[in-house]
Amino acid sequence: MTLQEKVETKLGLLIVLSLVVVLWGGLAQIVPLFFQKSTTQPIDGLKPYTALQLAGRDIYIREGCVGCHSQMIRPFRAETERYGHYSVASEFVYDRPFLWGSKRTGPDLHRVGGRYSDDWHRVHLINPRDVVPESIMPSYPWLDENQLNDPLISDKMRALTIVGHPYTDDEINAAPAQLEGKKEIDALIAYLQSLGTNLKVRR
Ligand code: HEC
Repeated sequence: MTLQEKVETKLGLLIVLSLVVVLWGGLAQIVPLFFQKSTTQPIDGLKPYTALQLAGRDIYIREGCVGCHSQMIRPFRAETERYGHYSVASEFVYDRPFLWGSKRTGPDLHRVGGRYSDDWHRVHLINPRDVVPESIMPSYPWLDENQLNDPLISDKMRALTIVGHPYTDDEINAAPAQLEGKKEIDALIAYLQSLGTNLKVRR
């Protein structure tokens, strides 16, 4: 009887050996993770959001932009031709919470940073139809009227350092000054202009 026949005809032995193989495979995958600080390293040049961008991100969340816009380019030709390089995990290490979204009433915004000028965004946010006549995106005129008011900005940054965002004390202390005199729209545009700029393959 060959070894193979022995294993395949003795059910108990087959089960035990199968378990050994599965457990070994599992250990080989899981154990290295205990020795890694993080499974996803930030992509080269990735910086945590500045105070202004962070405040803009909160406005993006408040206004529900994620309900119509995803920030996740999938690795398909139709997507990369339209938006640019597909999204990779290491671009999102400073996104808490993720704003990947799943609804695309409007286009994906992950690589919108740098695609338009600040002025274009300003006009577009106040009334999208001024630049895209057929647009069904809502107008957000109050963003241009409301003074940016984010008294907790330093505390938010400090909280983010606990989960690994490398803000320095200087950056945290300077945050309120960075927001001074700005409108909500300025923060939102600063955020939009930062999106996806680390992995931009120009075509
Ligand atoms: C009801 C759905 C809806 C909501 C909510 C919405 N948008 Fe849009 N958005 C659209 C549509 C549709 C377009 C495409 C037409 C256009 O450019 O206006 C668009 C386009 C855009 C574009 C241009 C993208 C490109 O690549 O041309 C940006 C930037 C944008 N939206 C930002 C925002 C932001 C920021 C918010 C939240 C303040 C928001 N949108 C909320 C539907 C929406």
